[in-house]
Order: sequence, then structure tokens, then C-alpha cells
Amino acid sequence: MKWVYIEDIANYKDQQIEIRGWLYNKRSSGKVRFLLIRDGTGILQATIFSPTKDHPLFEKFDKLTQESSLIVRGLVRQDKRAPGGYELNIEDIKILQISEDYPITPKAHGVPFLMEHRHLWLRSQKQHAILQIRAELIKAIRDFFDGRGFRLMDTPILTPSACEGTTTLFETEYFEQKAYLSQSGQLYNEATAMAFGKVYCFGPTFRAEKSKTRRHLIEFWMVEPEIAFATLDDVIELSQDLILFIIQRILTKRKKELNILERNTKPLEKIKKPFPRITYEEAIKKLQEKGSSIKWGDDFGAPEETLISELSDNPVCITHFPAQIKAFYMQPAPERADLVLGVDVLAPEGYGEIIGGGQRIHDLNLIEQRIKEYKLPRKDYQWYLDLRKYGSVPHAGFGLGVERTLAWVCKIRHIRETIPFPRLLYRIYP
Ligand code: 4AD
Ligand code: MG
Repeated sequence: MKWVYIEDIANYKDQQIEIRGWLYNKRSSGKVRFLLIRDGTGILQATIFSPTKDHPLFEKFDKLTQESSLIVRGLVRQDKRAPGGYELNIEDIKILQISEDYPITPKAHGVPFLMEHRHLWLRSQKQHAILQIRAELIKAIRDFFDGRGFRLMDTPILTPSACEGTTTLFETEYFEQKAYLSQSGQLYNEATAMAFGKVYCFGPTFRAEKSKTRRHLIEFWMVEPEIAFATLDDVIELSQDLILFIIQRILTKRKKELNILERNTKPLEKIKKPFPRITYEEAIKKLQEKGSSIKWGDDFGAPEETLISELSDNPVCITHFPAQIKAFYMQPAPERADLVLGVDVLAPEGYGEIIGGGQRIHDLNLIEQRIKEYKLPRKDYQWYLDLRKYGSVPHAGFGLGVERTLAWVCKIRHIRETIPFPRLLYRIYP
């Protein structure tokens, strides 16, 4: 008999098939026994009907507990009342294993308990929906860049130097040397961009950030495009197209999951280009008007980002930050040497920064000076300086954080639910 996944069940109407999965829930009602079976791709209602009190399968039905593994065979029937529109008339059940005392029951559990059981929590409907959307989001990102002729470049995880500042580096031993886990693939992509024109990397990045917030992970995934000859304006345009592409894809392909999450999709449907663009100084003024005590030169924290992102229904692009609060590689603004051509894109609905990027310094003397000012070890950046020696060109790029974007798209409160196994400040288990 044919083994079929629940998501494909509509193709097997009135056919005998086999489903392999786990018991999600069960109930009985009069002469019918209902099994809700999940197989990873969906949940299917399967029924055993008996006109009398007895049925050879009732004994197995009674034995089955939540998350027991089983194989059922039967006939696919279209039924408007069934969730998903199809159900299975069971003809045979094979129990693989009876699950005893599954810890996550339908009653409410506290988050610490669920985090401790993350390996099982993943099976719950809401977590499943979030991670289905995550997979779609990642596919959308790849399709977007591949479709525009960007070359995928895998940048290293083990690196000899810092990209985003030395305070959040994870250090490890590398034989006789020290190495650090990558905070960003950007510096390497500045090299690959000079070899391939337009590139992107997409991988895990690591920040030893002592931030215990709803927006920070220690290990997160970032996609980073980098383009030779591009400027700040070019990457702002690209970031808008990317965000719109992601949203469109998820709205069309993951309706069911957004529904499970009870995500009101109106705010996502409303988003359109161009996104409002304000400078850091304008943002500071707006924040002060709203009663914030922020001063020029301060970096935005979560409360400030939330206030700014409430200015518009669209994401907001902030540019021209003070050089002192940004990374060493940022190109100064032509009219104001104390400002840099960086951009942060803040997601609406209070979600804050999802993209950071901008134009990079392409002048050799200036980048050497910055490496000195930021007290970075020059010898580790020798190769990076070469990019400014041999055919240097203006270039720009950005990084979009997958988990922050997903938290916004799904409208979930905490970033810990956006990755199968979150690494958090005080948690590395499971
Ligand atoms: O603003 P960031 O630090 O920028 C860079 O790393 C640049 N080198 C990227 C580039 O230009 N190629 O990080 C970019 C994005 C943020 O906007 C945010 O979405 C995400 O990465 N991010 C985090 N996500 C989760 N947890 C954290 N601790 C994050 N730190 C940054
Ligand atoms: Mg940033």
C-alpha cells in the first residue's frame, strides 16, 4: 500500500493509502472513534466506525496515547467537516511504540518548562507553524538573490578577526592560534564581491552578547548581500525589494500557518515601496518629541526602535549614524565626516531592527586609519586592506537577521521560538 504524506492527501481521494505518524489527539463520539494523526506535514483526522459496540480496532484505539507512533491504513474520503477537507476511514492500525507520560499535554505549560523540552515542543502545532514559515522564509531569500544573479558565497565560521567589534566575540582554540566564531560574513564577502560582482552569504553567526532581551540570540542566521560599485541608495532599494518579496511569498504560500498563529495579515498586506527614510538626527528629534531622553551620539535600544517603528505602517529606514556608534568599515557621509552611510531597517508593529548595512570605506588610507582608531590588529586585516589596494571600488551591502524577520512576520513576542534550538544567554540545552 502506498505511503502518503498528509499534505499530499488531496491527490488520493477514494484510494487506499498508508499514513505513518504520531498520535496527536483522540476522542470518541457515539459509534465513531477519531484519531488525530500528525506526520510532520499536517494533521489528519482518521476514523473507526462501528455500528455495534465492538470493533476489532477499538482495543488498539484504547491503547494509543499522545505521541505514540503508528502506521494506519485506510480509505481517503473527502469530507467538508474534517479539518483539511479529507479524512481517513481506518482499516488497519499498526502501533510502533506506545509513548508513556508525554510531558507536553494540551494544558498550558510555563515557558521555562517548554524550553527545557524544546526537542518535544517542536511537535506542537504553533511551534510547527513558526518553523514551517521559517523554512519558507529562507527559501524565499535564496530565490530572491538567486533570481537576481547574486552568487552564493559561503564565508567561514572560524575567523582570525572581528567584523562587528571585539566585545561580542566567541573565542576558541585553533591549534596554536586563537580563532573567533564569525559575527558576520561581510568582510569576506567584500573580497568575493570583487571577484563575482554581486554575492550573498547565508549562514549562522555568533555574538557573545550579554543581552537578555526578546530580540537577541547568541547564535542566529543572517543573509548578507554585498555588491561592488553599489552605494547606500542601491542597498536601501534592494532591502525594500527583499522584504516585500519575503512577505509576498509567505502570504501566498503559508496562509495556513499564519492562520494557526492567528496572525492578522492586514498589516503585512499593506506594506509597499518606498519605505520612509529618515536620518539618525531626525530620528533623535522625533524620539525627543515623544518624550525620550535619548541624546545625539546614543545608540538606539529596543524602546527607541519600537517608538520609531511606530511612525509608519511600513518598515522605516534610518541612515547617517554617528560614526562612533557604528563599525569601523562604514563609509563617511560626503558632507559630514562625523556621520556614516549606514542604514538600519526597522520592522513595523514595534519589532525594531531587522536589517543593518550600508556603504563600505573603499579608500586605503581611511580604512587604515579606522583600523588604528578601533585598535584592531593590523596584521589580521592585511588581506582586507589588499581589497583597497588592487582595484578598489565603492561597494555596499547589508545583513538581514532571519529570526528577527520571522518574529515580525509571525508576530510572536519572543525570538526564542523562531529557531529550532535557540542559543540564549543562559541556555544551551537542549
Ligand atoms: O546590524 P548587524 O550587526 O550588521 C552586520 O553584522 C553587518 N556586518 C551586516 C552587513 O552589512 N553585511 O546585524 C545585521 C542583522 C540585524 O539587523 C539583526 O536583524 C540581526 O542581524 N542580528 C541579530 N539577530 C538576532 N540576535 C542577535 N543577537 C542579532 N544581532 C544582529
Ligand atoms: Mg545593527
